[in-house]
Amino acid sequence: MAVMNFLASYDAIPEDDVPQRVALLRETMATGRAALFAELRAHRPVFSTPVGVFVTRHPDVLEVLSAPTTFTVGVFGPALEDVLGAPFILARDGADVHWRERGYGQLVLAAEDAPRVRKLTARIADQVLDEAIARGTDTFDLVQDYARLAVARVAAAYLGFDGIEEETLHSCTRRMQWAFAINPGRDPEIHAAGVTAGRELHDRVAELITRRRAADPADGPDDVLGRMLRTRLPAEYGFDDERVNANLVGYLTGYQQNATQCTATALKELVVRPEVLVEAERAAGEGDPARFDAFVWEALRFHPFVPVTPRLCVRDHVLAAGTPRQTLIPAKSVVLACFASAMFDEEVLDAPAEFRPGRPPAHNLVLGYGAHDCVGRYAAQVIVPELVRRVLLRPGVRPLPGGERDLDYAGTPFPQHYRVRSGRAAVTTT
Ligand code: HEM
Repeated sequence: MAVMNFLASYDAIPEDDVPQRVALLRETMATGRAALFAELRAHRPVFSTPVGVFVTRHPDVLEVLSAPTTFTVGVFGPALEDVLGAPFILARDGADVHWRERGYGQLVLAAEDAPRVRKLTARIADQVLDEAIARGTDTFDLVQDYARLAVARVAAAYLGFDGIEEETLHSCTRRMQWAFAINPGRDPEIHAAGVTAGRELHDRVAELITRRRAADPADGPDDVLGRMLRTRLPAEYGFDDERVNANLVGYLTGYQQNATQCTATALKELVVRPEVLVEAERAAGEGDPARFDAFVWEALRFHPFVPVTPRLCVRDHVLAAGTPRQTLIPAKSVVLACFASAMFDEEVLDAPAEFRPGRPPAHNLVLGYGAHDCVGRYAAQVIVPELVRRVLLRPGVRPLPGGERDLDYAGTPFPQHYRVRSGRAAVTTT
């Protein structure tokens, strides 16, 4: 409840005491984000602070993300390109790289792959769960022993990182994502670690591409890398093997940590609502993916992987023009488009605090919105729900009673541990 007085406390700090205002903001974001956003939506929906302009209402978030030539990815784009060592779709705006690579991404991350990626995910998820359970302990770690491994094995098989260890795929992308997405102060050590990790993956993928080229790509595996190597673009596009490499590594970076975290947080949001869990378990067993998947996307609305995405405003812009909250955003402002707030906008969503699978798609911004929305969405839309579904199909595998909310971040930006019963405990204790 204390956070409901956030604005009063914030305003009481003198405007020129920037460190204290920023400290209060960071603390409140970390400990009471949902209440903070509710307060901002009600009282200061476009909130200018020393760390950026918080945009909290659903229509305003959509307005920002619909205008990529005014609100660019310039806040993190340069860091992302350092980490990848090449131009990339999420690091640029405009005609040259973004528009073209967007089309390329849609081609190689083909929507029609979804059914077979779902089957692949189911098979791999079951294998990894069997391995975790076969270790014979009463509990295992859903993040380290299941989600991280299953996600990496799906990446290896679908994207085409064959022969690269799961640990490399996971730990490199963690350092890379940390460097470009969660390093607003540009801590040089975090940045350097991300660049080194990007280099490591680049070098492994370069070996892989050499191997695949030597073996005649026409006979190569039907995975995303295989498709990339068979695609011929006009030479003036400059789309050589280095760009193939950067794109493949970039796709992995947009996926590995996201899918791992989403598996854990979606499960958490289901198990903390026992009556919802019962319905989700039933839907998991019924075999109608559309019905089951709606539970997972609604769960992620409560705990999205990307709660806020930053943009750089490059020219003066009047936001929410003609409404009482109309605000001039001056050029050079950092704008924070708050997905996690927009998805709870009570003027747009009906009863946003209620868990209601099957809400209108426009109310779910878990995969982003606008020019930079998730180009891997067709894969994401089957991989994440199927990873959660395979767990729900095993009634013995559930978070420890009382530990349903215990995601352990271990001092990092992503959940690292989530302890679950292995099923053995259920048998031995009942
Ligand atoms: C698994 C769960 C996933 C989640 C939660 C997720 C989430 C997101 C979000 C929120 C964005 C927008 C970022 C922004 O506006 O700043 C995004 C963009 C992107 N995602 Fe995903 N994603 C997932 C899976 C994937 C997969 C499987 C791939 C590729 C294989 C992928 C590749 C990308 C790329 C390349 C972009 C940038 C698109 C652009 O700049 O036009 N993502 N994703």
